[in-house]
Amino acid sequence: MRIKLHWRLTFIFYFVFILVLLIGYFYLIPQLRLYFEHSLKNNIKNQLFLDKHLLEKYLIDEDTFIEDADAISDRMGEELGIRVTIIGIDGVVLGDSDLSKEELKYVENHLDRLEIKKAQENGFGISKRFSRTVKKDLLYMAVPLGKDNSLGFLRFAIPLRDIELFEAKLKRIVFLALLLMLGFGLLLFFSLSSYISKPLLEMVEIAKSYAKGNFLIKPPLRLKDEIGELAKALSIMSEEIKNKIEKIEQDKTSLDAVLSSMFEGIIVTDKNGEITLMNPSLKNLFSINNSLIQGRRPIEIIRYIDVQSIVDEIIEGKQKFVSEEVKINLPEEKILKINGTAIIRDDKLEGAVLVFHDITELRRLEKIRQDFVANVSHELRTPVSSIKGYAETLLEGAMEDRKNLSEFISIIYNESNRLANLIDDLLDLSKIESGKMEMLLRPLEIINIVKKCVNILENKAREKSITVSLDIPKNLPKVLGDDKRLSQVFLNLLDNAIKYNQQGGSINISIFVKNRFLQVDISDTGIGISQKDIPRIFERFYRVDKGRSRQLGGTGLGLSIVKHIIQAHRGQVWVNSELGKGSTFSFTIPLV
Ligand SMILES: Nc1ncnc2c1ncn2[C@@H]1O[C@H](COP(=O)(O)OP(=O)(O)OP(=O)(O)O)[C@@H](O)[C@H]1O
Ligand SMILES: [Mg+2]
Repeated sequence: MRIKLHWRLTFIFYFVFILVLLIGYFYLIPQLRLYFEHSLKNNIKNQLFLDKHLLEKYLIDEDTFIEDADAISDRMGEELGIRVTIIGIDGVVLGDSDLSKEELKYVENHLDRLEIKKAQENGFGISKRFSRTVKKDLLYMAVPLGKDNSLGFLRFAIPLRDIELFEAKLKRIVFLALLLMLGFGLLLFFSLSSYISKPLLEMVEIAKSYAKGNFLIKPPLRLKDEIGELAKALSIMSEEIKNKIEKIEQDKTSLDAVLSSMFEGIIVTDKNGEITLMNPSLKNLFSINNSLIQGRRPIEIIRYIDVQSIVDEIIEGKQKFVSEEVKINLPEEKILKINGTAIIRDDKLEGAVLVFHDITELRRLEKIRQDFVANVSHELRTPVSSIKGYAETLLEGAMEDRKNLSEFISIIYNESNRLANLIDDLLDLSKIESGKMEMLLRPLEIINIVKKCVNILENKAREKSITVSLDIPKNLPKVLGDDKRLSQVFLNLLDNAIKYNQQGGSINISIFVKNRFLQVDISDTGIGISQKDIPRIFERFYRVDKGRSRQLGGTGLGLSIVKHIIQAHRGQVWVNSELGKGSTFSFTIPLV
């Protein structure tokens, strides 16, 4: 059981108080008794000597001393209230206040009594003893009488019971006084300890409220003693804790903000490998919506053994830094680079931090770049080897043959044209992609561009007996665009619509306003594109049928140039197509 401070203090004070009282009691009583006995003895002794002198001077007649002795002792005994005995020099008891004359005859000789012997020797004798004559414990005091102490002895006897009675009475009085003091002491100490413990208890309550995070209450600073110092220290401490908590909260808020805004996913574990923190990016990455994350192992939340192994390796102290690339399906495939680092404080392992970088896009771009280089070299090699082959044949003598000569030279010419076109396209693409191609955006009438491009490709269409129809309303609003680049778009799309069309097919160009844009649809009745190829045709060098396209002089760069130009105009480009029936390429351009 917990005893309250208030009561404990009361008990301690009270215990000490009782102890002091008891010591006092047991020391005081014998002392007082001694003092009483001593002063009683002194009084009687003084009285004894006084009476001796009075007797010697006025009352005693040496001749009648023996006859008068009994009467004198009776009278003195009566007046003093004590036993008075007068003894002759030979030890015979001559008078006694407690005995009649008759009784005196039977009293034995008193010369051997200790007090008488001492009185004989020293002029005064004292002794304590049981009186057989009066059957009591008595204190005897005796002095010699007469000139040269030759007459006899005067003896006083007081019952020791008087002293005992006094002691008993004394004890009773002191005991009552003690009882009173104990009662009074209890009240006094109770209020005293409450006076001492109250400010302490107040501070206990205040400290408790600090522990609960309430720092509004301040300890009263009224005392100037140690308790006042304690109150001051408590007050300072509360301020410091409050500031520290505010600082920690600020730090936590900024850390939370950093972690939440980070693109990379983060997991932090403690030294047991249990998760202590996970940022929103990581939750998004692995589609985790479980709120019970803390205290669980990564494998329980992210079902990838690779992630768990990285944590294990660090926690078991095998590595301080681990960097690994992990492929995951979520459900689409992603490539993650995970960097795990040990958290070390004071040379002790405290946990692990894992940072997840999504490098899927990086890897995809890398692959595109590699494919691009492979494709470019391949595309370059074909015309170059063709030119080289024909030039060699000519040098080896074919030049002599006039017929071959012009045919071969026209092949060399065509191939070098193809090469030049390819290089132009590549340069255009790289310019657009690096943002170096200048776009001169100006308000323009799109109908003029359409007509100009249709004119340029008219012959090519006619060769395949393809009819081109326009479905363009009058008074179309102007668009914001680059004349040269938009012409490039139309030429590429129309060129495709002719190239991949049937003999005697048709092309329709329709333009209309949609929201704040002009939409252009170029439909053909050509071979169409399968659904699986549609997402890829805007990629560089992608051709559905490589052989056929190359035969038609294509490199597969046209549509990716179109896509980039339209995007640079803040428009969109897309295709709807059905295999064997035809395709519709659409794009939008913002109005002025
Ligand atoms: N109108 C269309 N009908 C059917 N297929 C098409 C059409 N337009 C493009 N394609 C397909 O998309 C591929 C990519 O077209 P793109 O214009 O980029 O290249 P290309 O025409 O082969 O060569 P380039 O345009 O560089 O001369 C073509 O190879 C073709 O397979
Ligand atoms: Mg093309």
